[in-house]
Amino acid sequence: MFQRPLSAEYTGLTPEETVTRIAAAKATLGSDLAILGHHYQRDEIIRWADYRGDSLKLSQIAGLHPEAKYIVFCGVHFMAESADILTNDDQIVILPNMSAGCSMADMASIGQVEAAWEAFGEVTDTSRIIPITYVNSTAAIKDFVGRNGGACCTSSNARKVVEWALAKGDKIFFLPDQHLGRNTAVGLGLDPEADMLLWNQNAPDGHGGTTPEKIRASKVLLWTGHCSTHARFKVEQIEKAREDFPGVQVIVHPECSLDVVKAADLNGSTEYILKVISEAPAGTIWGVGTEINLVSRLAQEHPDKTIFCLDPVVCPCSTMYRIHPHYLLWVLENLVNGVVVNQVKVKPEIAANARIALQRMLEIV
Ligand code: 13P
Repeated sequence: MFQRPLSAEYTGLTPEETVTRIAAAKATLGSDLAILGHHYQRDEIIRWADYRGDSLKLSQIAGLHPEAKYIVFCGVHFMAESADILTNDDQIVILPNMSAGCSMADMASIGQVEAAWEAFGEVTDTSRIIPITYVNSTAAIKDFVGRNGGACCTSSNARKVVEWALAKGDKIFFLPDQHLGRNTAVGLGLDPEADMLLWNQNAPDGHGGTTPEKIRASKVLLWTGHCSTHARFKVEQIEKAREDFPGVQVIVHPECSLDVVKAADLNGSTEYILKVISEAPAGTIWGVGTEINLVSRLAQEHPDKTIFCLDPVVCPCSTMYRIHPHYLLWVLENLVNGVVVNQVKVKPEIAANARIALQRMLEIV
């Protein structure tokens, strides 16, 4: 997504000037404005959020505030698209920096997904396959899923959505995160080898690197996608944490690979990680496998506990990090002047079925 660079009027501001002007613009906009902040946002952004949450919570919140004329989504592009789909037509959803995308969502294009579906249809009955897309996907893929009787899920409710889909059909097609799909299915007792296949959309054979027999035999058809931030977490880091910190409890995000999730004590969404650690007794030790802004904030907010990131050199989610306070200020001051910049608007012909898929997700919690 293209984002034109900010002018020197904004990039030249000091942090203090930026804070003063964001506060003033936010106060002027009052109840016309709701700022939503994902847990991976930096502290300088999250301090302005009226609502913080994981993907599920923020989707729920987006639909619950019809009074807000403007929803400024401090997160990534697919989240703003979902918010647009779930809000009223007269509400305006804004992403402060249009280049805040999601590399995992970019791993599945609608053309590739339609091609895979067609290939499945050549060897099996697709009316018995229920597609499930992780919300980290484009609105076009949510539309495909809605059209084909499926649902969206987040890491908070993936288990329930997969259970629902397996009761409804013979197979599920889970995209784009292979790890969340595999971890969830293994959690339901399925075998990662016998019951699942990995469809490789880039396979040179043009058939996903699999066979018709394997497609027919598998209950779970996984897409080859992953989160680049969570791919950094390894079993060796967990082993080292257990050596260095006897008594440590390891908690990771289910976008981590199966071996990492198995080696951890607990796994769950960002909201779950936050809740578990916040409610843990003083003196407990936590090795955490997720994005660094959330881990650092937890460590600051709970000085009575030892909280550290399993990867000592983990970088932040580079696209979440693109929401810089200068961009937030720029969109807010434009709104004060009656100008809407960076609106995220999903085409109505895509939004209708995408909404069905998202609403199923919100019902299955
Ligand atoms: P949750 O906040 O739903 O756990 O998702 C994390 C994530 O990867 C967002 O892109």
